[in-house]
Amino acid sequence: MTKLIVGNWKMNKTSTEAAQLVQELSKIPSGVSVAICPPFTALDRCAQLLKGTPIALGAQNVYCQEKGAFTGEIAPDMLTDLGIRYVIIGHSERRSLFFETDELVNQKVKLAQQHQLIPIICVGESLEEREQNQTLMVIERQVTTALKDVTNANLVIAYEPIWAIGTGKTATPEIAQEVHHVIRQLLSKHFNDNTIHILYGGSMKPSNAAALLAQPDITGGLIGGASLVADDFLEIIRQAA
Ligand code: 13P
Repeated sequence: MTKLIVGNWKMNKTSTEAAQLVQELSKIPSGVSVAICPPFTALDRCAQLLKGTPIALGAQNVYCQEKGAFTGEIAPDMLTDLGIRYVIIGHSERRSLFFETDELVNQKVKLAQQHQLIPIICVGESLEEREQNQTLMVIERQVTTALKDVTNANLVIAYEPIWAIGTGKTATPEIAQEVHHVIRQLLSKHFNDNTIHILYGGSMKPSNAAALLAQPDITGGLIGGASLVADDFLEIIRQAA
């Protein structure tokens, strides 16, 4: 299965800086799918620069309503109008800092799909949940609720253990694979489809990407910090090709 490597730039890069980074991302090898998710303010400019390249564009969030009095929010057709293909939904930073619930994630997933956006649904346990042996229960709840009444398998799941995000601590390939396997089983049961991407995220970098991507149920990566450095992101892409 062709691997999918996605860069989540989070709240980094002005529009000007984003344009510079995009220009450094040339020479993408074939045999791998690549997307970047810059901040909203850089999407239009990046869309122009990425025309005719193999790099797809994603947004980091979307609201669960079509339009209206929702100050500060972004509607799905504002994204599709720019040619955006992916949207990250339910990142742990949005869940913990902005109180997004599994139910809101589910509403966003359904609306995004109605607009032909491919949701990248993030799930992951906290350190406390892992230490209390609740990991698989938490993941099952997050995946199941996010997919309630979802019949369209055109989506991506990203497993991002919260304790591995931005900490330099990566889940070992074995720990990640164990969770990915459970997610694979949940997806097979729900959609009867074994081709849905399940990305690993959390301190993925050139030095650990190959071992993680070699696991049978890890079909790509959602990269934070290392996606802000062109050489590092390109090296991860090469390892996935
Ligand atoms: P880091 O790669 O910086 O740990 O971030 C992972 C992440 O949260 C991607 O969405």
